[in-house]
Amino acid sequence: MGAGIAEVLARGDLAVVGIEVNADALERGRGHLERSTGRAVKRGRLTEEGQREILDRITLSVDFTDLGECDLVIEAVPERLDLKRRVFAELDRVCRDDAVLASNTSSLSVTDIAVTTGRPTKIVGVHFFNPAPVMKLVEVIRTVLTEPEAVERVAALVDGLGKTAVTIGDRAGFVANRLLFGYLNQAATMLESGHATRDDIDTAMKAGAGLPMGPFALMDLIGLDTCLEILEAVHAESRDRRHAPSPALRERVTAGLLGRKSGHGFYVHDGQGSPDEPAEHDAETPAPIVGVLGTGPLADAVAAHCGRAGGQVRTTAAELGDCDLVIECAQDAEAGRALLVAAAESAKEGAVLAVTSATVPVIEQAMATGRPGDVVGLHLPEADGTLAEIAATVVTAPGVADRAAALAGRLGLTTVRCRDRAGFIVDALRFPYLNDAAAMLGAGYAGADAIDAAMTLGCGYPSGPIADLDRLGLDRAVTVLRALYAETRDPAFAPTPLLAEHVTAARPLR
Ligand code: 3HC
Repeated sequence: MGAGIAEVLARGDLAVVGIEVNADALERGRGHLERSTGRAVKRGRLTEEGQREILDRITLSVDFTDLGECDLVIEAVPERLDLKRRVFAELDRVCRDDAVLASNTSSLSVTDIAVTTGRPTKIVGVHFFNPAPVMKLVEVIRTVLTEPEAVERVAALVDGLGKTAVTIGDRAGFVANRLLFGYLNQAATMLESGHATRDDIDTAMKAGAGLPMGPFALMDLIGLDTCLEILEAVHAESRDRRHAPSPALRERVTAGLLGRKSGHGFYVHDGQGSPDEPAEHDAETPAPIVGVLGTGPLADAVAAHCGRAGGQVRTTAAELGDCDLVIECAQDAEAGRALLVAAAESAKEGAVLAVTSATVPVIEQAMATGRPGDVVGLHLPEADGTLAEIAATVVTAPGVADRAAALAGRLGLTTVRCRDRAGFIVDALRFPYLNDAAAMLGAGYAGADAIDAAMTLGCGYPSGPIADLDRLGLDRAVTVLRALYAETRDPAFAPTPLLAEHVTAARPLR
């Protein structure tokens, strides 16, 4: 991270002094800088001369006194308060009195660091995101002691680097990590409980929620030890069970499986590329005959998708005789059950009967029919998207979920599997994260623009959580959260009052 930040500053035409703890670490830092800028040269994003200029702006040293003339110092040492305090004591000694001292801490309290220095008014947090040269967000953290001028100077410097500064107060996880890590940890818990596999969860979040990486690939990028530290710090403040580090994470850290940096985390990183790409379906196999039952936007979108994929679409119970797959797309559970019961009576033997709701257990709908073994959940997190989550129940007959996945594949959908649990994968992971964002907004820690910027610019999300809530529908968010709460009785899943209030008032968050 230190090397990444040094590169960002040097790319912004600033003279940089990079300090490392010893000569070996200094060489590793130099290697990082050369590889990162070298990659940009190879991609044609930087000339060799440009690379040389950037590297020439960085002086590497193991001597703290070389920082004597710096206007700003950014500390990026490991996340141990005793170590940070020692580093800041040294910086306090060698740096000019008017120099601003910043910590890139992702989990410790900036105030805790500030109070042990002789210049608490000049201590800020500057939190970069991984990979620092790519991600556009920098969170600038002011403590209750920081003078406004120090914050303004750092925010202006960040803007001058072509990044976006979001200035916020000193709370564990700040904005982005506070929202990101509840989700990452919940994904690890989902894996731990056997709800879905690593690959299915990663694929679901990329294909179903449009994220640049799935949670396990991202934890491997961040470093599992860092993830654990952040969760411990956030949990110490929030006391929210969703932040209590999952055993799936802790076990790997104890075993030294730290992610990309150690070559093995949730994935093995052997340079062979990500193994989680969805399998291609056979284009030669004819598209299936599909019954799409129900009225409303979901039914319309599913019928349109099946039609575009070349499938023959039937829309009434009387026409279901030759269907390979019948998809119930009713607008509420009761209507869905009635449609499913009718479909079970008229569909041919061997047809798969699919339930689309992720808020009513599939098993409840299946048991209402005379053929529960043929029923699976088939959830489309985005009605017009390309991901289908397939859930088998405890009574789904062997091979039925495989047939459902094959049929969905022939309709051009990417499929993932999970157990019959509220929210399947995507909704179960995204709505609690969106609820956290609404709670943060409700608590006044950050505004809607800052929250949305944190997730789009810091974590590469296609849109921010407040915009997502308004797009997906606050009533849908509350329905999914209530289903998750009913299933787990975990208070962390209960809809935050701001959401419930906006639903009652029929008003979007913005
Ligand atoms: N260092 C420097 N540059 C890198 C890089 C790295 N490690 N990895 C990728 N890049 C650059 C590439 O050179 C490329 O640049 P170009 O567009 O100028 O040619 C660009 O990033 C895109 O790279 P790729 O095409 O190889 O790969 P992707 O398109 O898959 O993007 C990604 C990779 C940018 C990492 C993207 O997957 C992403 O945005 N992932 C989410 C990352 C994220 O969430 N970060 C925040 C984590 S939380 C955090 O850091 C806080 C801390 O406290 C833990």
